[in-house]
Amino acid sequence: MFENSYWWLKLLHVTFVSISLILFFIRAVMTLKRIPWQLLWPKLKIIPHINDTLLFISGFTLAYLSHTSLIHGWLSFKLLLLLVYIFSGIYTLKMAKTHAKRLSGMTIAILTVAWMVKIALTKQIF
Ligand code: HEM
Repeated sequence: MFENSYWWLKLLHVTFVSISLILFFIRAVMTLKRIPWQLLWPKLKIIPHINDTLLFISGFTLAYLSHTSLIHGWLSFKLLLLLVYIFSGIYTLKMAKTHAKRLSGMTIAILTVAWMVKIALTKQIF
């Protein structure tokens, strides 16, 4: 019973991860192409926040249920990378003013998520 619910929660978590990445990619590409998506599709400003909140809640619940420490080991490093993902996302979508800077921000954000997925799957930092 517990294992079944845990499996479903993990599937939900991975679904939120995928949605987060897809929504970031769409917004970053539109920002690179100078499409004013904030004006054209204002919901694209809100939906990612709702999804990311659910992503965090599912992640922290998984950590609680599996008794995984937030301050030791692989999960603490994953949370550190989460800060890099959040900051590089804000940088790409709001702060960077040139094409090259936006592209760098987007590349860092995507590579950071790839590293987080690798850590989540292997429970190893490197
Ligand atoms: C962009 C952010 C995140 C990404 C890319 C990500 C990625 C993943 C992936 C791919 C898995 C599935 C691993 C598997 O199938 O074995 C996973 C599991 C997990 N994640 Fe996340 N996650 C993110 C955010 C978080 C947050 C904020 C927490 C909060 C502490 C968290 C905690 C966990 C835990 C505890 C597991 C379960 C590990 C297991 O039982 O195998 N994650 N994550």
